[in-house]
Formats: sequence, C-alpha cells, structure tokens
Amino acid sequence: MGIIHINKLKPGMVLDEAVKDISGRLLLKKGKNIQSAHIRIFKIWGVTEVNIRGNNGSKNTSDGNLDPDKIAKIKDNTQNLFRHADLEHPALKEIFRISVEFRSQYSFPEKEKQVDLATTESKQDTGNHNFLQELNQGNITLPEVPSIVFELNEVIANPLSSAEDIAQVVHRSPSLTALLLKIVNSPFYGFPSKIDKISLAVTLIGTREISGLALGISVISLFNNIPKEILSMHSFLRHSLACGIISRILAAHKGLPQTEQLFVSGLLHDLGRLILYSYFPEESLNILSRARSTNMLLYLQENDSLGCNHTHIVKQLLQQWKLPMVLENNVFFHHDPCEAPQPVPAILVHLADIMTNGLGIGTSGERFVPPLDNKAWDSLGLSPSCFDIVVKQATHQFFALESMLEI
Ligand SMILES: [Fe+2]
Ligand SMILES: [Fe+2]
Repeated sequence: MGIIHINKLKPGMVLDEAVKDISGRLLLKKGKNIQSAHIRIFKIWGVTEVNIRGNNGSKNTSDGNLDPDKIAKIKDNTQNLFRHADLEHPALKEIFRISVEFRSQYSFPEKEKQVDLATTESKQDTGNHNFLQELNQGNITLPEVPSIVFELNEVIANPLSSAEDIAQVVHRSPSLTALLLKIVNSPFYGFPSKIDKISLAVTLIGTREISGLALGISVISLFNNIPKEILSMHSFLRHSLACGIISRILAAHKGLPQTEQLFVSGLLHDLGRLILYSYFPEESLNILSRARSTNMLLYLQENDSLGCNHTHIVKQLLQQWKLPMVLENNVFFHHDPCEAPQPVPAILVHLADIMTNGLGIGTSGERFVPPLDNKAWDSLGLSPSCFDIVVKQATHQFFALESMLEI
C-alpha cells in the first residue's frame, strides 16, 4: 500500500515504517497495529502521512521482482556516480544503498539524460579566469530584478504585512497563484480540506512562509531558457525541486522551524548554473565537456575554467536583487557549508544536494555525487537511519508536485 494520507488511515492497518513527529520523536514503532487512539495522536502531532504495510509498501517485495542482473548493473552504474564520495562513510553508505534501491524502482529514461556532449569538441581551456572579478566590477551584466520579486521582497521585509498584502502581490501573476495553490493543496502540506484562496493559505501557513515560497518560485521561473544543446530545462527543474523537498524534510527531521526557507534554498541552490547556462552558453558548453572528459566534479571544473563557480554567480544576483540573507547563507555555501554564518541550514542543503544527485532525480549538469563535508556531517547530529523515511516522504511529495515543473 505504501505511503498514505492520515485521513485514509484505518484501525487495523500495520505500519511499514516507524511514525515520527516533525522533530523526529518516535510516536509508533514499525510493525505495530494501528488503533484509533494512534490516529488521533498522529493528527495532534502534525503527522500527515504514514507508510503502511501492503502489496507495494515493502522495499523487499519490489526488489524481489527485479532481475538480479539489472540490479547488479544499477549498482555498478551508481558506484561510478559515487566515485568522488567516500563510501566507507556511514551517511554515504546509506545514501548509496537507498540510491540503488530508488534507481531500481524508478527510472527517468529520456528526460533525465544530459545532452550528449561527446560530439561537442572540448576546446583548450579558453575560460575567462577573471570572470569573478568582471562579475564583481559589474562588467558582466546580470538581469534586473523583476517587479514581482521586488514587491515580494518588500512584503517579506515588512513585519506589518498582512495576508491581504501578500495575496494582492501574488494575484498579479495568475501562474504564480495557481502554483502556490497547487503546493498548499498537495501532500507537501497535507491539509485535509481544499484551500482555494491565497489569503487563507497565508493565514494557515504563515506570512513569511508563503511570501518566501512565492519569491522562490518567481525567481526560478524567470530563467527558463537554457539552450537545449546544454541541458534539458525540465531536468534542471527536477533536480532543483527534489533538492528543495529533501532540504525541507531534512529540516523537519532536524527540528528546524523555518522549513519553507529550506525548500526555497534547495529550489534555488544551483541557480548560478542556470544563469551561467542561459547567459554564457559557450563557456558553459566548454566547462561541461571538459568536466566530462576529465571526470572532474562540475563545480571544480567551473573553478578551473572561470576562477569561480556557480555559487559565486548566484551570490552576486542574490545581493543585486536584495533577496533575503538566509538564501545567501544556504545557497552560496551549499558546497562549503561549514563556512556559512549559520552552518546548519547550509549543511542541510549540502546533504540534500548529495542525496538528490545520488537518487538521480534530474540534474543541474553534474554527473557525480558531490563529496560530503565530514566536518559538516559530524556537527549536524542526524542519524543516517532517517534517510530512508526522508526519501520516501520526498518521493511522495515530488511526484505530487511534478506537474508544477511545466512553468
Ligand atoms: Fe551546486
Ligand atoms: Fe545541485
């Protein structure tokens, strides 16, 4: 049966995963028979979904149906993707195990494939090593802040903003309104009844949270013109959405209160690459083909060719557009999270990016799983045992929100 909404839960069903509240506290152990009292407790503690034992809820059952040769091949391929990661590390070992399982269950055949760069001639490194300097000096022009982003920024910055103020700004864009309502009515929130007004969503979820979501969606939908010969836009958005969802669920497991901020940070974490691909296609193609021929991690290849990487590019944009500081903290530092002024949320995005690359949901151009910052992991205080449920929750939410990628 798998993951079901709390409202569909019935006494007598058996748990296939332990149920924990949003801060990770155990409410009921795996294998327990659910009673009416348990359902009431789950609702009180904000649990929206549980994993129920049944025909397709068990990972062993689904694995058992697969051809062993196919699993061995998936394992081999996944091992190659983890070539820059230390598979002896307990967290990476668990992410690897879950990635093999996930890749055995789901395949994204055509959409996820990167454009074949084999035919793209890798030129000598003609990259612009002063790219960062030119960026800082304003010689490389980044886009101007769009009015809706500017207005959402104002609403977020003003502590007196009301639900109506936000609704007014959001309503100016019908596509943004529709997307926000889709998110608040999806398993991402799991509200029992339909929410049909932005002002109601603001009342239920919070002013800053809804404005933050609106801001993140508005920003990422502005850059929708990656040249096809570089990367599929759909694939890029899948990577971004999955990273946002996983960041938010990890934040809930860590007990952080601002989970929307983590979703938006994950959604925008590789925005610098989107800018690079859209505005500097020639440099981008060269970097991608060089990374392919050297098997180097993409952000290191960017450093090599440009003297900076996608995080420096996005930092410039976040500052120019005066977006909330928390985004700079989480997005700029996602490859180097211990350096962030607030390391914990940056570490969560760092981890979510590793998990998203491992699972293979979309790509931002990177072919490998980025290495885990051991110091960051040690300071986080999460157990790898939570990854299984994190990925299950994330998968469920991802498929429910996938259609929002048609932005
Ligand atoms: Fe990145
Ligand atoms: Fe990424």
